[in-house]
Amino acid sequence: MTPTVFSASRPLLVLAPMAGYTNLPFRELIREKAGGLDWTVTELVNARSLMERRDEALKLSKTTDKDSPCFVQLFSSVIHETAEAARIVEAQGAAGVDINMGCPAPKVIKSGGGSALLADPEHAIRLVEAVVQAVKIPVTVKMRLGMTPDQIVAPKLAYAFQELGVQAVIIHGRTRSQGFSGNVDLDGIREVVQAAPKIPVLANGDVTTAENALFMLKQTGAAGLSIGRGAFYNPWLFSQIRSALTGNAHPPMISFEERLHFMTEHLQRMIGAFGEFSACTQFRKIAPFYTKRMGPSKELNRNLCQCETFQQYQDAIAQYLRQRTRFLDENGELKPNYRPVPVHSSLDKLAAIG
Ligand SMILES: Cc1cc2nc3c(=O)[nH]c(=O)nc-3n(C[C@H](O)[C@H](O)[C@H](O)COP(=O)(O)O)c2cc1C
Repeated sequence: MTPTVFSASRPLLVLAPMAGYTNLPFRELIREKAGGLDWTVTELVNARSLMERRDEALKLSKTTDKDSPCFVQLFSSVIHETAEAARIVEAQGAAGVDINMGCPAPKVIKSGGGSALLADPEHAIRLVEAVVQAVKIPVTVKMRLGMTPDQIVAPKLAYAFQELGVQAVIIHGRTRSQGFSGNVDLDGIREVVQAAPKIPVLANGDVTTAENALFMLKQTGAAGLSIGRGAFYNPWLFSQIRSALTGNAHPPMISFEERLHFMTEHLQRMIGAFGEFSACTQFRKIAPFYTKRMGPSKELNRNLCQCETFQQYQDAIAQYLRQRTRFLDENGELKPNYRPVPVHSSLDKLAAIG
């Protein structure tokens, strides 16, 4: 059965998977506190590890009622393994399966999965076909434009996936050779949208504000957006985009206190899920995404990067709050020269060019 999320008459907003970041505690928290999401996606899960019922894969593929609907993202190049893993995901109660065709990480590429599938479109099509046939839950594919700018395969693949019964395609507007930087190719995304007109194609890459979200939708004609890093810079981004889509030009600003509270709650929930030491060490790379929007935070980041306990985290925050007063004006707002500069997004650059 097609979930109602796909038949929404408004643009779809989806949390992009980010290994090590978009863990279950984060997904539950962002839905509960910030909202605006149509569905979430787990971090990428190795299909073979899931077949072998390895602990790590089972943990990564876990979702809850509070994180529903959630798609489990699989990576592999082995057709029967991916189909079998999809059946496991279905039996576990996931809302759908997402197939990773974008990851450039050497570990994933070596297995022939992730973006390596883009180098062999016929194989990618057979793999997707097997997964669609293996399960009744919806199947989506998240891919890049191609391996390199002169090997663009996404439009051809999107058309083939649509014909096979894939329910949505998420397109990161970069090639594998671009990694995560350089301009997002809006024309490239639009070509994918046009190649698969019967299914929603969601645009991904560099959406960080409600303004550049609207720009991305307008320029590409995409049916929605998938957002990764922007969700950490600003967990309220999805609800702000919703608000902007309904014509509210000035979505509510989020206070420093709310950001800080959200960050702390993310860590507390990770401690509940993974234990104190593991959560605190994993959180070292997550915290800088949050603090980037808080004002001067170099020293705070340095301290958070050494935390092994929640008490140490609280001490680091307390010290930061004491130091932060010197950056504030009489109203408790950051003085102009201490305000964070906008997070870099190639979409802002492209919008300025016009
Ligand atoms: C640290 C990190 C981890 C990522 N992990 C995944 C992943 O597990 N699966 C996936 O499909 N994409 C992954 N991505 C790619 C993102 O989903 C997204 O396509 C990319 O970051 C561009 O979107 P954004 O600018 O909204 O972040 C990852 C990106 C980053 C930065």
